[in-house]
Amino acid sequence: MIEVGGNGRLWLLSGVRSGYALRLTEDDELLHLHWGPRITVEDAQALAAEKIPAARGFESPLDGREEYPVEGGPRFTRPALSVRADGVRGTEWAFGGWEADPEELRLRFHDRLHHLALTLHYRMRAGSDVVERRVTLTHARTRARDGVPLELLRADSAAWSLPARDGWRLSHLHGRWGAESRLVRAALTPGEQLIGSRRGHTGHAHLPWIALDAGDAGEESGEVYGCALGWSGSWRIAVQSLPDGSVQAVGGAGHDDSGLLLLAPGDSWTTPVFAGLWTEGGFGAASRAWHAWQRRHIIPAAERHRPVLYNSWEATGFRVDERQQRELAVKAAALGVELFVVDDGWFGARTHDAAGLGDWTPNPDRFPGGLRPLADEVHRLGMEFGVWVEPEMVNPDSDLYRAHPDWAQHHEGRRRTEFRNQLVLNLARDDVRAHLWERLDSLLRGAPVDYLKWDFNRSFTDAGWPGDPYPRRLWTAHVEGVYGLLDRLRAAHPHVAVEACSGGGGRVDLAMAARTDQMWTSDNTDPVDRLAIQHGFSQLHPARIMAAWVTDSPNEQMNGRFSPLGFRFVSAMAGVLGVGGDLTRWSAAELDEARRWIERYKRIRPLVQGGDLYRLRPPGDGLTAVQYVRGDESAVLAWLPAQRYGEEPPPLRLCGLDPAARYTDLDRGGTHRGAVLTHRGLRTGLSGDLAADVFHLRRITGE
Ligand code: DGJ
Repeated sequence: MIEVGGNGRLWLLSGVRSGYALRLTEDDELLHLHWGPRITVEDAQALAAEKIPAARGFESPLDGREEYPVEGGPRFTRPALSVRADGVRGTEWAFGGWEADPEELRLRFHDRLHHLALTLHYRMRAGSDVVERRVTLTHARTRARDGVPLELLRADSAAWSLPARDGWRLSHLHGRWGAESRLVRAALTPGEQLIGSRRGHTGHAHLPWIALDAGDAGEESGEVYGCALGWSGSWRIAVQSLPDGSVQAVGGAGHDDSGLLLLAPGDSWTTPVFAGLWTEGGFGAASRAWHAWQRRHIIPAAERHRPVLYNSWEATGFRVDERQQRELAVKAAALGVELFVVDDGWFGARTHDAAGLGDWTPNPDRFPGGLRPLADEVHRLGMEFGVWVEPEMVNPDSDLYRAHPDWAQHHEGRRRTEFRNQLVLNLARDDVRAHLWERLDSLLRGAPVDYLKWDFNRSFTDAGWPGDPYPRRLWTAHVEGVYGLLDRLRAAHPHVAVEACSGGGGRVDLAMAARTDQMWTSDNTDPVDRLAIQHGFSQLHPARIMAAWVTDSPNEQMNGRFSPLGFRFVSAMAGVLGVGGDLTRWSAAELDEARRWIERYKRIRPLVQGGDLYRLRPPGDGLTAVQYVRGDESAVLAWLPAQRYGEEPPPLRLCGLDPAARYTDLDRGGTHRGAVLTHRGLRTGLSGDLAADVFHLRRITGE
């Protein structure tokens, strides 16, 4: 709901539990008023009428108070916008009007000198508390001869202002390949903290998400602010702790301030969304609100549950052929797998990682009849069929590169850096996108493919574009090119689902979540490491998109750890379950056990993929557990990495249940009183090392 007050110069957006208010001064400065629990327009007007202490010398009256701080004028905090034209930097805004529909408020401003129009967008969808912010910048001159191009050095999506507190604590996710999205939570000290990616993709080092609390929030209590950016290229979020105890966070596309794009007369650019959320109820409530919003508004067809998948990458690597994939498909189908995916190695001369990337036709020695015979067999076995692609890349040893060496990102006269023996194509180029569209479209028309795993296995290093008048735009235009291709493919092949992957979780963000059906969380499939990675991932994203595989023991890819099949399954059952082991080496007993775990997963799948998540105990040495609640049912997944001192692990105090109701344990029989489960807790009976189990509870109705 959007209300207006203050003689048409004050706005209040109200969500289910939160409110967000802003106002314009007589000098057309757009000031932040409130972000927190719901308030009325009268409250917001009273806040606007409060006298603000006069700024002393060396202090800016605007710092920390503006909705969209820009470069120029009496401002010393980090600007969200920096524009240059004809050697003049900075902007000065005149208010141009506003409009609102039930879910979005738009405020328009104009800079006379640069002829730059700015629209600030605020969207709050019905039933949600997430404020989705972005800005549109338009060169207001329409004829080239009437204006010079404007260089957007930096154009962030939003600035978020948080009130003064005695101290703030920042939570964010950090990592690297094989160790993504690990949660770190520490006091925010005066000054500024930056997270981001300088790699051309979202990156393994940080997910574009932050949470801020006053140091007193817990998993299920306290006030938490969160912000998340929907952008899959380089990005930056800057969190500034200001001298008065308030915080301002700005964020957007691009990793520094040295140029995003050039706006010619008539051009317009809309930034990615930077979403914000205020919640009470701790980090758990914040995550549940983010999850519900993504399932409802961001993730395509989120109400459809993701199938159990098989992928042989860890088992077979590049040694892929039709006979072996058929053998695996038969075994996978017998386990209850619903989607069979052929990973890297099916195309061109791709028998190792140094050749063939870019040549998207089946390797004739490995798939003599193309992909169709295998796809038909997989369908006959009752599964969907998927293939791996990495459209944005090329091996120098490929037909594509030999024909079009200029299609790779590069700087004239400089060495082309190869990571994993591959180069990045320049998807900002129309001809590259047209070629990829034709190849991918023919792939999907040439065989009955139901699923694409879209990988991206190296960062930008030589992001040059010889011949283009403003090559820096490649950093944003490449990303928009990927979005355009994905959107077009989805529109032309609506039955094809897409998995986002970037060497594991190197491209996990809200913009990819909006264009894909699930995400490959990490190449690390060790079930113990995964608990921490999944704990971090779940801070922002729901289990509905978090792909997890059960692979072989010992885990040869990562750490050589031996782990029981049950522990591996329960770890992967916390997301979209997949199997990635070499099934030809699994014993009959292991295959039978795997079949039973998959059956159990299917029974709790609606809860995992569509329910509310409660993180009962964080990962560590001791007992760790998550709980999903949906309607009358609940599922608890518990893991004990290592028992200590012969002690029984503590009972798990469950959440989201009715204390007055009784609950049946659907697997073991027996009933529990809701009050006992929430107060004393559920005794898991886990002991020893690497023990895990699932508890599926249903409320007894009609009592
Ligand atoms: C990286 C992915 O994360 C893996 O799952 C696999 O698809 C390989 N790439 C294939 O090259």
